[in-house]
Amino acid sequence: MRPLVATVDLTALRHNYLLAKQCAPERKAFAVVKANAYGHGAREAVTALRDIADGFAVACLEEAEEVRGGAPDARILLLEGCFEPAEYLRAAELGLDIAVQDQRQADWLLAADLARPLNVWLKLDSGMHRLGFSVDGLRDCYARLKGALQVAELNLISHFACADERGHPLTEAQLERYGELLSLEFDNCSLANSAAVLTLPQAHMAWIRPGIMLYGATPFAELSAKELGLKPVMTLTGALIAIRELQAGESVGYGASWVAQRTSRIGTVSCGYADGYPRTAPSGTSVVIRGQRVPLAGRVSMDMLAVDLTDLPQAQLGDEVELWGAEMPIDELAQACGTIGYELLTKVTGRVPRRYIGG
Ligand SMILES: Cc1ncc(COP(=O)(O)O)c(C=O)c1O
Repeated sequence: MRPLVATVDLTALRHNYLLAKQCAPERKAFAVVKANAYGHGAREAVTALRDIADGFAVACLEEAEEVRGGAPDARILLLEGCFEPAEYLRAAELGLDIAVQDQRQADWLLAADLARPLNVWLKLDSGMHRLGFSVDGLRDCYARLKGALQVAELNLISHFACADERGHPLTEAQLERYGELLSLEFDNCSLANSAAVLTLPQAHMAWIRPGIMLYGATPFAELSAKELGLKPVMTLTGALIAIRELQAGESVGYGASWVAQRTSRIGTVSCGYADGYPRTAPSGTSVVIRGQRVPLAGRVSMDMLAVDLTDLPQAQLGDEVELWGAEMPIDELAQACGTIGYELLTKVTGRVPRRYIGG
């Protein structure tokens, strides 16, 4: 079997969820498990969290179906609402909470003959300018939906654009716009993503919506997951499958972009960009072997990458290689590649087997 595995630590996932709850005492939390629980496996994540999570949040009905399979009684929030009228019927059968983010969705909802009323989250565009009503538009929609047959709870939701940059003026503006609507009688309110859960108590409202922090990665560029008390959930581990010696002047890999400056020992690792390791990772990026960092040498290939083992003479064929995990934070790799942990986690491909531990 190819030596590459993504180990998912479900005890760490539970730890991180409970940490989010501690940050916002007395509040409820939708664990955001969209995109296959940020690449970790939605079914397994939901099963691990269902006895402690107040609810789950997903991007679409297909994801909600999967979550409902693992959590028969939990609240499940459709963050973008329904994409066509027929979805309201299924949402009602599944007992979902749904966002309503524009007039069209409100019309569809009011025209639907539902098995039971739905908990509705009216989405305010407080400044992200992606989805949602203006303040006035939301007031109008509130008046239309309040007391409608199709509506059980009527709630307020919005999303931050810059909460990961502490002190960003847009966050203050978004909070203010959100605050303008609090004179309406909502059953519940929700605003905080992970960054706001961790640093903006005034945004916690009744329901927080932590995503990335559950998986042990940081939403901040300047504050590491470790400093935040988060535990990494996924460890991506390959192995050394070949080792060779190069003379000074010889090159490694596609484009011959890395050239040995000295007699060098080069290891080949069983992980490449077709597994989700970023091809943009530059030479010098660290992986960890035997507890020691060693640098990437040359371009990442589809199924393999190369590392310079010259300063780790004890490294041997078959040694485990941590591409990311507790010793090589995914956020550090993401920064080296000009991306974010979210992207790396959600792009681990289907051919990488997930192995679940803890729970
Ligand atoms: C509407 C909404 N709420 C909450 C989240 C969770 O955000 P984060 O992963 O930054 O905690 C997301 C993620 O993109 C989202 O789109």
